[in-house]
Amino acid sequence: MGPAVLSGLPLALGLALVLPSAALENGLALTPPMGWLAWERFRCNVDCRADPRNCISETLFFEMADRLAEDGWRDLGYKYINIDDCWSAKKRDAAGRLVPDPERFPRGIKALADYVHGRGLKLGIYGDLGTLTCGGYPGTTLDRVKQDAQTFAEWGVDMLKLDGCYSSGEEQAEGYPEMARALNATGHPIVYSCSWPAYQGGLPPKVNYTILAEVCNLWRNYDDIQDSWDSVLSILDWFFANQDVLQPAAGPGHWNDPDMLVIGNFGLSYEQSRSQMALWTVMAAPLLMSTDLRTISPSAREILQNRLMIQINQDPLGIQGRRIVKEKSLIEVFLRPLSQGASALVFFSRRADIPYVYTTSLAKLHFPEDAVYEVQDVYSGEIIRGLKTGDNFSVTVNPSGVVMWYLYPVAQPWRIVRQQAPREGFRPVLL
Ligand code: GLA
Repeated sequence: MGPAVLSGLPLALGLALVLPSAALENGLALTPPMGWLAWERFRCNVDCRADPRNCISETLFFEMADRLAEDGWRDLGYKYINIDDCWSAKKRDAAGRLVPDPERFPRGIKALADYVHGRGLKLGIYGDLGTLTCGGYPGTTLDRVKQDAQTFAEWGVDMLKLDGCYSSGEEQAEGYPEMARALNATGHPIVYSCSWPAYQGGLPPKVNYTILAEVCNLWRNYDDIQDSWDSVLSILDWFFANQDVLQPAAGPGHWNDPDMLVIGNFGLSYEQSRSQMALWTVMAAPLLMSTDLRTISPSAREILQNRLMIQINQDPLGIQGRRIVKEKSLIEVFLRPLSQGASALVFFSRRADIPYVYTTSLAKLHFPEDAVYEVQDVYSGEIIRGLKTGDNFSVTVNPSGVVMWYLYPVAQPWRIVRQQAPREGFRPVLL
């Protein structure tokens, strides 16, 4: 943007455009990261003799990489394949370096990274700022931060989840920013996911989201997700109860992370799976699936591979959505503003009886007056044309399910006239 344009702007806005952004300046994760993360589905299963197909081993990651590349995931944006805890040997090597478990990762992490890159994917790894990882493997104490950053970079790792078991608040306040510097100093681009705020209760004054956005690309704010609807609901409740704090913290390069998608596993119904996907998308959350892509059902796959959903999740403005209505009827409405005047609306039912017919209007949802929208239902694909702000409409929301809409403004007639016929002497006519 040139100075001529800037000079026309109010001073404060002009300054905001020229001052460096407050985000971590590694240029990464400009939209929420998408991919696959081992933890929720595969945990710390290290018994490859008893369970060779599901244990944490290079085979699991080679196989998931194949699925990501061949079953349409990568091309939709699911690019990261991320190792979680329990990958390493129980001891560092003689030089003090982290090493993978030699039986479960005989070819080493570098070979895995090469393979993953060859398939057009990126590799993530897990570390823990502290004496041990949460699963009891070697952690990264403050004196090891630089060395471990260097090791990950040499292996060609593209993302690091740095957990915070077995460290104090003081060590975390020093170690998380130190790791950000160490990763940048390697010269290898590594997306940096911090569990720091989750260990500090996720809220100010203990968590400073301004500082966090300068240190990390994404961060876990809250408890681990489990394979149950109760767990998904508790995460939703916490994130939206605290939206005034959390919502402004997110943006390109710096995201809140409500944890993995558990769609495709055992705990969520079809409706609940659609709800997790829609609500994570409204939260501008990273889409990190933790499911067995070798056996995933067609219906779970369809939810996770919904193109319009992914487009909304990845909207370049990167504005996190908010809950805007909580009805006594147990219907809740969520809104995420998108680029080019578009928005996403999610109507969510906490009811446990029958599909509920919810009637409202865009005016009641605070949309601009006199606007006209075209609406696409994100799951059914149905299109509604010419919806005016004042029109009442109804959606039928299933128990624990959602209806999700993508709305884009249809230019008002007078705007079209004004934009398309800027000739002198022409007076737009308000229709
Ligand atoms: C913590 C993290 C989880 C997972 C486990 C691994 O609980 O929050 O996401 O990484 O550790 O042990």
